[in-house]
Amino acid sequence: MNRLFQFFLVGSVLVMGSCADDTEELTPIILDETPYVMYYGELPPPTIADDNPLTEQGVKLGKMLFYDTKMSNDGTMSCGSCHRQKHAFSDTNTLSIGVRGLPGKRQAMAIVNMAWNGNEFFWDGRAHLLRDQSILPIQDELEMDETLDNVVSKLSAELVYKKQFIRAFGSSEITSYKISLALEQFMNSLVSHNSKYDQYLRGDLTLSLSEERGRKLFFTEYNEFFPDDSGADCAHCHSPSNFENNKYLNNGLFTDAEITDNGREKVTGSVNDIGKMKVTTLRNIAVSFPYMHDGRFQTLEEVVDHYNSGIKGSGTLDPTLRNTMRTGLRLDATDKSDLVSFLKTLTDDDFLTNPDFSDPNQ
Ligand code: HEC
Ligand code: HEC
Repeated sequence: MNRLFQFFLVGSVLVMGSCADDTEELTPIILDETPYVMYYGELPPPTIADDNPLTEQGVKLGKMLFYDTKMSNDGTMSCGSCHRQKHAFSDTNTLSIGVRGLPGKRQAMAIVNMAWNGNEFFWDGRAHLLRDQSILPIQDELEMDETLDNVVSKLSAELVYKKQFIRAFGSSEITSYKISLALEQFMNSLVSHNSKYDQYLRGDLTLSLSEERGRKLFFTEYNEFFPDDSGADCAHCHSPSNFENNKYLNNGLFTDAEITDNGREKVTGSVNDIGKMKVTTLRNIAVSFPYMHDGRFQTLEEVVDHYNSGIKGSGTLDPTLRNTMRTGLRLDATDKSDLVSFLKTLTDDDFLTNPDFSDPNQ
């Protein structure tokens, strides 16, 4: 039955593809399950869902979809419009801007090492799996504002997609579920593992004096009573290897009265989650400005100032940060610039320029 089906498909490809060349005719379009080889250096092994292993053809399809503006209602935006490789798959707008210039409600998140993401997706974690997440921006009226039915029919009209769905999933039938699986595969393939910090861990280079001082501050606990040994304790939440902790927390951006985006509470309905947001990775943080879910800080210096002396109290403020409020972190100008120097060692130029991840239309 499979053979017959393939025969039929190849036949229809030849009829439909008037411009298909000889090589195309000689290569039958069939399911190709060649595994995609993920390189992740010294990172621990990633967690990939058993029912959606990465294949070369699946990742390729996901990349085609990720960079295709047909996924949006007016044909102007792809996922890649807001998730730009050189900014660690984030964008530089304070709040994201969707089709027809529609203003979004939050800052676009970086897409880095999703395969190690142990909790859910979005600032509030409302999407359980990456495949659930991947088709929501298409339908979000402030983002791509398109229906899945329209996307499926636009893609179904294209021979190049019909062929790629056969290679990736064994049939030319295009469904929104297969679209979501392919996007999940491509996003899982976006791995950053060769920052200056990773090279330092491997012993390939040494950090500068300032970077090394910043590293110590990042990893050392804050101690009100021993100022000389006290650090900035960033690793309390942004912990290796991906500098996050699979939690939703309140890092002191608002007083109770100022909170307008309830964050995690929208998902759990619990008052204990008001104002809590996903603790995001700091890998490639120097290029993924602006910062925080509302994009309020343009620079890492402003971020460090926030933690040093700008924490605002509210009911759900994380206790570790509340603990610092009386004195602040007591970082002086040198400490602050050392901490920023360290954060910059998390930039991975290979990741930001890897052609495997790049927009094919540029
Ligand atoms: C208009 C800009 C825009 C477009 C287009 C867009 N995104 Fe996003 N993306 C965002 C914003 C903003 C967030 C955070 C939204 C939130 O928390 O409510 C986000 C969050 C994400 C996340 C969550 C990352 C994490 O760590 O939890 C992923 C993954 C993602 N987008 C993938 C995609 C994919 C796939 C597409 C295309 C189908 C896409 N995005 C299209 C702006 C955009
Ligand atoms: C108690 C946990 C906690 C600690 C400690 C902490 N952070 Fe964060 N961090 C968060 C949370 C939660 C967010 C997301 C907040 C939001 O956007 O509402 C965040 C966001 C950030 C961001 C912005 C990420 C982005 O994608 O926009 C940076 C940069 C950052 N933190 C750096 C640091 C540094 C540097 C330190 C140490 C001085 C630190 N953090 C300490 C919890 C913490």
